Amino acid sequence: MHALHDLTHLDKPALYAELEANLRALLAGEPDLIASAANMASLLYWSLPDLNWAGFYLMDATSGDLLVGPFQGKPACVRIPLGKGVCGTAAQQRRTVVVHDVHEFPGHIACDSASNSEVVVPILVGERLLGVLDLDSPKVGRFDGQDAAGLETLVRVFVEATVSG
Ligand code: SME
Repeated sequence: MHALHDLTHLDKPALYAELEANLRALLAGEPDLIASAANMASLLYWSLPDLNWAGFYLMDATSGDLLVGPFQGKPACVRIPLGKGVCGTAAQQRRTVVVHDVHEFPGHIACDSASNSEVVVPILVGERLLGVLDLDSPKVGRFDGQDAAGLETLVRVFVEATVSG
């Protein structure tokens, strides 16, 4: 059992540093990708303020689509083709995409009408695209460069612990 700590008093750099330590402890010794992704989605959803969705879309080798993986939040779109929506864009371009207002992002895929901003981080194992980490918020402009950098670090920890660890 892992206790969740109240991190709401921390500024973003301190919050992500704390989350990195929590994530390392949570994933330690467990190589199973789905199990680790499930716990990571829960950690993020319950630790970061103002989220309505946090989870993974994983590459489906057969179809070449992103397929919904472990997450917290309302039921979501199952398949996202590469290049479509925020997730498909981040996956195709292999870069983190921060969307200030999803209603202004051409092709945004609305899974939960409560979502107003979003950040998507690609998950890369060397050259191989494993999928993306996707966070949604009901607040416009919820995510900034500090979130992007913090989440990229957490994704690296996830990859080290599960895929290449
Ligand atoms: N909004 C995403 C789809 C996934 S949900 O937000 C969970 C997108 O445009 O790719």
